[in-house]
Amino acid sequence: MAETTLNETTANLSVDFLGLKLRNPLAITEGPLTKDAETIRWALEHEVGLVFTKGIRPEAAISPSPYIVKAGRSLMNADWSDIGFEAWLDEIRSLESGTPFVVSIAKNYVTPEEAIEMAIQLEAAGAPIISMCDYNAEQLIQTVRLGRPKIKVPLMVKLPPFLPNLEEVLKQLMEAGVDAIAAMDSIGPVLEIDIRTGLPILGSQDGTGYLSGTAIRPVTVKYIYEISRFVDVPVVGVGGVGSARDVVEMVMAGATCVGMVAAPLLKGLGIFDRVAKDLRQLLTKLDVNDINAVRGLTHRKVQQSSMRYELRSRIDYDLCNYCKLCSKVCFVRAITDTGERVVANRERCVSCGLCASVCPVEAIELTAL
Ligand SMILES: Cc1cc2nc3c(=O)[nH]c(=O)nc-3n(C[C@H](O)[C@H](O)[C@H](O)COP(=O)(O)O)c2cc1C
Repeated sequence: MAETTLNETTANLSVDFLGLKLRNPLAITEGPLTKDAETIRWALEHEVGLVFTKGIRPEAAISPSPYIVKAGRSLMNADWSDIGFEAWLDEIRSLESGTPFVVSIAKNYVTPEEAIEMAIQLEAAGAPIISMCDYNAEQLIQTVRLGRPKIKVPLMVKLPPFLPNLEEVLKQLMEAGVDAIAAMDSIGPVLEIDIRTGLPILGSQDGTGYLSGTAIRPVTVKYIYEISRFVDVPVVGVGGVGSARDVVEMVMAGATCVGMVAAPLLKGLGIFDRVAKDLRQLLTKLDVNDINAVRGLTHRKVQQSSMRYELRSRIDYDLCNYCKLCSKVCFVRAITDTGERVVANRERCVSCGLCASVCPVEAIELTAL
C-alpha cells in the first residue's frame, strides 16, 4: 500500500475491463434497473462504471405479482420480466457509442447453439461484450466452447452459486477461452411467508424466489476469492454489496468490477454516487492511491499469515462511548458493566472476538495477553 498521505480526491478508481476503460469498478448487473435502453441511460447518470443488461430471453416475458420484495435487509425476487430478444436488438442499437455495457443472455432458456445465434446478432447490433448466464455450468462451458470462435467481442459467463466442482468448471471455461467471469446469481429457490395470510410473499406459482442483498455477501466474497485463485481473467463480484467497504472487500478478494442490484433497488441509484465518493475517501484512509493496487490483496496476505491464537480484548476508553453492547454480547462475562464504564477481564476472555466485531466505534482491539 502507498505510504504517501493523499488528499481525498486523488485515489484512482478507474479500472480496465476487457478493453473498456471504466470510470470506476462499480457495476449494475442484470436486473430491473437495466431492463431496456432507457433504464440503462438512467443508470449512467450516476457514478456507474459498467452496466449489464437484464438477462435477455428469446421471447418477451412478464413476472408474477409481486415479484420483488424486501426480506429483512435483503431482497427476494421472482423477476423474469424481459422485453425479449427482438426488442433488445433495437434497444442496443439506440445506445450511444461508448456506453460501457455488457449484453447478458439468459442462456438457461435456450440451447448453446441458439444462445450463440442470439450473441452474433446482439454483437452486430453493437454489444461490446456478451455474457451468458445459466444455473447449469456444463451448459456455460459448452456455450463458450462453441461460441468463442464465432463471436468477435469478449465472451464472459455469470456463474450460479455453490458449484461443487468449481475448480474443474473454471478449468474447462478457461480452456474454452472465456474472457471474464462474473459471480454470482441470486441464491435460490428461497421462501418467505406472509404470516397474516399464510401465503408466500412472492406471486410465483409455488411462491419461491431468489435471494440477493446483504445476506449473501459473505458467500459471494468467498466465491470470488476462490474463483480468482484459479483464473487469470477479470472477475466481476456481485452479491450483497452496499457500501464502499464492501467494494474494497470484494476487490481484495480478487474482483476487478463489483456489482450491485439489491442495494440500488432498495435505496435508489444515488447509492452509486455515495459509494464512489466514500470509496475515494476510504482508499485514502487506508493509504491506497489506486483501487487496482488492492486487487487480490487477501490472497497475498493469507499466504503469508498463520493461524492466530490467544488474542484478548482490550478497551480503548478514548473511543468507548459506553453503549455497553460488548458487555451484553460477552457470553463468558469477561466484559462487565460497572455502572460507570465497561471493563474487560482479560484472564476470563476466551478470545472469540465477538465484542470487537459488534463495537460500533471500534474501541475494542484484540491483543496478545
Ligand atoms: C429483481 C432482480 C432481478 C434479477 N434479474 C436477473 C437476470 O435477469 N439475470 C441474471 O443473471 N441475474 C439477475 N439478477 C441477479 C443480480 O444480477 C445479482 O447477481 C444478484 O442479485 C446479487 O447481487 P445483489 O446482492 O447486489 O442484488 C436479478 C436480481 C434481482 C434482485
